[in-house]
Amino acid sequence: MEKIQIEKARQGLQGEIVIPGDKSISHRSVMFSALGDTPVRIKNFLHAQDCMSTAACMEALGAKVEFISDTELIVTGNGLHGLKEPATILDAGNSGTTLRLLMGILAAQPFLSTFTGDASLHKRPMGRVIKPLSQMGAQIYGRENNAKLPITVVPAKEKLHGMHYDSPVASAQVKSAILLAGMFAEGETTVNEPFVSRDHTEQMLAAFGVQLKREGTAVTIQPVEKFIAPQEIEVPGDISSAAYWLVAGSIVPGSKLLLKNVGINPTRTGILDVLKDMGAKITLQNERTSGGEAAADMLVEYSDLKGVTFGAEIMPRLIDEIPIIAVAALCAQGDTVITGAGELRVKETDRLMAIAKEFNKLAPGAVEEREDGLVIHGGANLQKATAFSYDDHRIAMSLAILGTVGAGVEIENPQCVNISYPEFYQTLEEIQ
Ligand code: S3P
Repeated sequence: MEKIQIEKARQGLQGEIVIPGDKSISHRSVMFSALGDTPVRIKNFLHAQDCMSTAACMEALGAKVEFISDTELIVTGNGLHGLKEPATILDAGNSGTTLRLLMGILAAQPFLSTFTGDASLHKRPMGRVIKPLSQMGAQIYGRENNAKLPITVVPAKEKLHGMHYDSPVASAQVKSAILLAGMFAEGETTVNEPFVSRDHTEQMLAAFGVQLKREGTAVTIQPVEKFIAPQEIEVPGDISSAAYWLVAGSIVPGSKLLLKNVGINPTRTGILDVLKDMGAKITLQNERTSGGEAAADMLVEYSDLKGVTFGAEIMPRLIDEIPIIAVAALCAQGDTVITGAGELRVKETDRLMAIAKEFNKLAPGAVEEREDGLVIHGGANLQKATAFSYDDHRIAMSLAILGTVGAGVEIENPQCVNISYPEFYQTLEEIQ
C-alpha cells in the first residue's frame, strides 16, 4: 500500500494558488461540445482522472478530442444526432458524473452501449437515474435489478417521451441525466428537486442556445432542435478544490493565501456561507464572469473559528465539502452539528463513516457519526497517526490538511487525489 507523509506546518501558509478548472463544468464542456457540429476550444479544462474518463468516453462515441496542452483541448462533434456506437465498453472510472450524465444522453441513441467503472463506482446507486429514464421509455439494464454497474443501454423501442419528475434527492447528476434525455424526447420534461442542486448543466445548455424554464426548484426543457456550440468555453476554477485552501488558511495560525480564479456560482458557495458563519476571514476580489459562470479571487487569512449547525437545505450547495468542513470544525471552538447529509454515504466512499473512522485516529473521540450527519467536537487535541483515504480524493485531501494543522499524518493510498486535483500535494508543499 502506497503512503505519503504530511508534516505539521512550521509556520503560517503563505502564497498564491491558481485553482484548477471546475470538475463539474469540465465534464459538461466535453460532453456537450461532442454533441455540437463545430469545433469548441475548451480552456482551463481540469486535467484529472475523472474528466479524462469523460473525454475518453466522448472519443469512443465518435467525437474528435484533441489536446493542445494539459488544460486546453478542441472537441468536435458530429451534431446532436451524430454520436456513434462505441466499439467497446465505456469506462467511467471513478466518475459518477460521467456515468449518470452519459446514461441520460445514451438512453436516447439508436445504438447499444455498455458501461463499466472502478470498484467504487460499482457500489454506487444508479437506480436513481435508471428508474426515471425508464419512465421516459429508456431501456437500461444493470446488476442488482437495474441499479448498479455494469450497465447496458439498449435503443428505446420508440422515441423517449418527456415527463414531470419529482426527484426524491437533490442531485445535479440525476437532474442532468433527465434533462439531457429530455433534449431528445417528445414533449417537455420537467425535473423538480427538494432543493436546487448545482446548475452547471442549465448554465452550459444555455450557452449552446438551449432554452430552459426555471421556476423555484423545477427546471423544464423542451425537445432541442438547434444545438449551437460556442467557439470557446473557459472553465472557471473549482470551488470544491479551493475549499481545502479556504479551510487550511483559516486554521493554520499566521496563514494568508490568495486563491486565484475560483468559480462562485451561487449553487456551489455553501462552503463560503458556512465558513463565514464560523468566523472565517475570507474576502472576494476581482469578481467577474468566466465562461458564463461567476468567478472571483479569494483572500483567506487565519482566524478563530467557532462551531456551527447546518442541515439539508444548504447541503446541495456544499455536498462535496463536508470532509474539509469537518476539518475546520475540529479546529473550531464548540461543537459543529451537521444533519441532512445522508447523501454522503453514497459518494466515492461512505464519507460519513470515513470521516468518523479516520479523523478520530488523529483526533480521538472528536467525531460522532450519526445516521444522516456528524457531530464534531471542536478544539480537538490533534495527534499524529496513520489514516486511510478509502481511495476517496476528498478524504485524502482533508486528511492532509488535518495533518498539516495538527501533528502530521501518514495517508494510506494517497494517489486518489488524481481524481480531481493531481497537483494537490505539490501545492501543499509550495505554500509552506
Ligand atoms: C456533481 C454533482 C454532485 C457532486 C459530484 C459532481 C455534478 O453529485 O457530489 O461531485 O457534476 O453534477 P450529486 O448531484 O449526485 O449529489
